[in-house]
Amino acid sequence: MHRSVYTDPTVFAAEQERIFRRAWLYVGHESQVSAAGDWLLTRLGPDEMILIRGEEGALSLLHNRCPHRGSRLVSGERGHSRHLICPYHAWSFDSAGTLTGLPLPEGYPEAYLHDASARNVARAPRVESYRGFVFASHAAQGPSLAEFLQGIAFAIDNLVDRAPAGRVTQVGGALRMVYRGNWKLFMENAVDLVHPGVVHASAVTAARSDRDAASLPGVTGQVVQMQLANGLRPADWDELSIHGFGGGHVSMDSFYRQGVIAAQRDDPVFRRYFDALAGANGESRAREILAIDRFNNLVWPNVSINSRFQAMRVVQPLAPDLTQVTSWCFALDGAPDEMIRLTLRFLTAAASPASLVAADDLEVFERCQRGFAGQGPEWLDVSRGARRDRDSGSEWLAPGTSEMPIRLQFGAWRRWMAVASAAAS
Ligand code: FES
Ligand SMILES: [Fe+2]
Repeated sequence: MHRSVYTDPTVFAAEQERIFRRAWLYVGHESQVSAAGDWLLTRLGPDEMILIRGEEGALSLLHNRCPHRGSRLVSGERGHSRHLICPYHAWSFDSAGTLTGLPLPEGYPEAYLHDASARNVARAPRVESYRGFVFASHAAQGPSLAEFLQGIAFAIDNLVDRAPAGRVTQVGGALRMVYRGNWKLFMENAVDLVHPGVVHASAVTAARSDRDAASLPGVTGQVVQMQLANGLRPADWDELSIHGFGGGHVSMDSFYRQGVIAAQRDDPVFRRYFDALAGANGESRAREILAIDRFNNLVWPNVSINSRFQAMRVVQPLAPDLTQVTSWCFALDGAPDEMIRLTLRFLTAAASPASLVAADDLEVFERCQRGFAGQGPEWLDVSRGARRDRDSGSEWLAPGTSEMPIRLQFGAWRRWMAVASAAAS
């Protein structure tokens, strides 16, 4: 790859137009806007949007911009109101963005107020929910959400299937981090299985110096177990498979084998959880659901889902060299309350600004970005494992240390970037 794909403002602007204003992007979870009038401030590519639930239960995704003089309609992360009232001249809108009232209507030319595009809040043309996870696209045409998610939808299915009630709820707030590097670095690193033993070596060493702590209950035990797991040998990483799909999506096998983070757990909380899941689905189906043991599942271009720990991260490009990562966690409806602690510990240990793991990753992203900006060699290498990629018919398969995920992501990137006009997509 040429280094300019990470640094050039022209490339960044083209990505915004051709990828982030066209592809299906995650905008929020239905449980965040469960009642009529609930709204959530979110983003769809470069634009700030309001995800809002209407009286009839339908979801709309509105630009957070008044059609009159352009003021932001709402501020704050979320809220509840039957009408959105602009803070500037008090035009009011219903949840579909339709103008419902304004002071001094007689002051405006009649034709103007009859022009829907002039008086209503602009909306995203396509908004769809997949099992509670809401995606939207700025493009009126293009692949359907189901087509877009092809291959990777199982990761959302497995997250939701793990809930005895067949539904998850977003709980708590969001964790946010900003780093001085390109957005693609995060997505490439999320399934780079050579880096953990190197980049996270200091945390692995600290965990190894106190291995007994891994058996402590609560947060200490779980965090030590997580750090020890990052210290696999390269040959062990290679035993794991990486699965790639046509749209640029990627999934990797899990590598957590011991303690409370293992797929095959045996502790009182987990037994109660298993009973609830088996009660709802039957024992063999419950085993089938829990046997899907994957770690990061990447929905191209900018989402990472961890189904086993009910965590989700969204990568938001802000500038060629500036990126925001937001993380949320989800509770399994119908599971014992204690199960959420596993999720919270996972997310805070792996993705919070204070995390030992995330701090290492952000440091390396910033080093890469500074390296790209120098005057040295222009080309970067992503060939590791290229000769060992295998097409199984339904997916690309590669051993854990392959750079196949990067090649696959750039394949999708090139296809979307090659189409110049939105209509042609
Ligand atoms: S800018 Fe919103 S009512 Fe004037
Ligand atoms: Fe990492």
